[in-house]
Amino acid sequence: MDLDLDAHLTTAEAAVADAVDLDALAIVDTELLGRKSALATVRSRLGDMDPDDRKVVGRRVNEVRTEVERLISERRAELAVGARAEVLEAERLDLTEFDRGRRLGHRHVVTQTWERLEDLFVGMGYTVAEGPEIEDEWHNFGALNFPLGHPARDMYDTLYVEYGEPQSTLLRTHTSPVQIRVMEEQEPPIYSIMPGRVFRSDTADATHMPVFHQIEGLVVDRGITFGDLAGTLDAFTTAYFGSEFTSRLRPSYFPFTEPSAEFDIRRPDGSWLELAGCGMVHPEVLRSCGLDPEDWSGFAFGFGLDRLALMRHGIDDLRELFRNDHRFLGQF
Ligand code: PHE
Repeated sequence: MDLDLDAHLTTAEAAVADAVDLDALAIVDTELLGRKSALATVRSRLGDMDPDDRKVVGRRVNEVRTEVERLISERRAELAVGARAEVLEAERLDLTEFDRGRRLGHRHVVTQTWERLEDLFVGMGYTVAEGPEIEDEWHNFGALNFPLGHPARDMYDTLYVEYGEPQSTLLRTHTSPVQIRVMEEQEPPIYSIMPGRVFRSDTADATHMPVFHQIEGLVVDRGITFGDLAGTLDAFTTAYFGSEFTSRLRPSYFPFTEPSAEFDIRRPDGSWLELAGCGMVHPEVLRSCGLDPEDWSGFAFGFGLDRLALMRHGIDDLRELFRNDHRFLGQF
């Protein structure tokens, strides 16, 4: 026997007690209990001993091992408390900094953007409409000219709700179903915007969230043309971003608009940024809402609202908008 197990236990005890943090303890753990530890070596040699010795030494090795494990886990618990205290100290907020009564809260950046957009469109004569976040398949897709099984439905990673027939109820994937609700409830002329939360089964990263915000615009009147759409979006661009910004439309596809376009803005540095989908309301969509396309025409657009908030404040990670860390939000 070349290892004095009692002496080894004493050394082990000291080594565990000396580990100053969790990282150091992990190293001690491997040294004392790992595959190359003295204990493991003794254990592997048990087979060569004569049966009587093996019994005695084997039992003692196990006892020492159990004791070392206990010491390590005790020390780990101690160090974890310390580590937690350190984190708490580092993240401590001095509440006396908040001079009560004078330091007021303020609206969330997304709400600020939402209200600014509402103000702007209300100023252009639009009303504000809202619809439910849990939608039926008809309003989110069917009435918008996505027939069942149409591949364009795959553009949206839909989150379905277990209610009624399979896939009949969902979290709305865009604000466009509110167009349908407005046309169902109200005779034209319609000049409305529809801000709200929308949902897609996306993994959260710097530019995607499973919950985000859109603002929809819908105009239905007599003799509305594509020129009206382009002019409205251009007026919006200047009013919202300033006169150094211009806009353009690029051909695109949506089942509920024809023709369809993407709306980009041009920033003062010359770069383009895609902001919205838009187009002329498809005659089928008007018919679905009981409107005769011979009498009425219209345009629609749908913007991502969060991106406007990020741009305005130079924030580069969408997730910050949803973390609700007041040290972050307090800056805006
Ligand atoms: N609803 C579309 C989307 O989320 C955007 C859109 C709205 C396109 C209105 C055209 C007209 O992708």
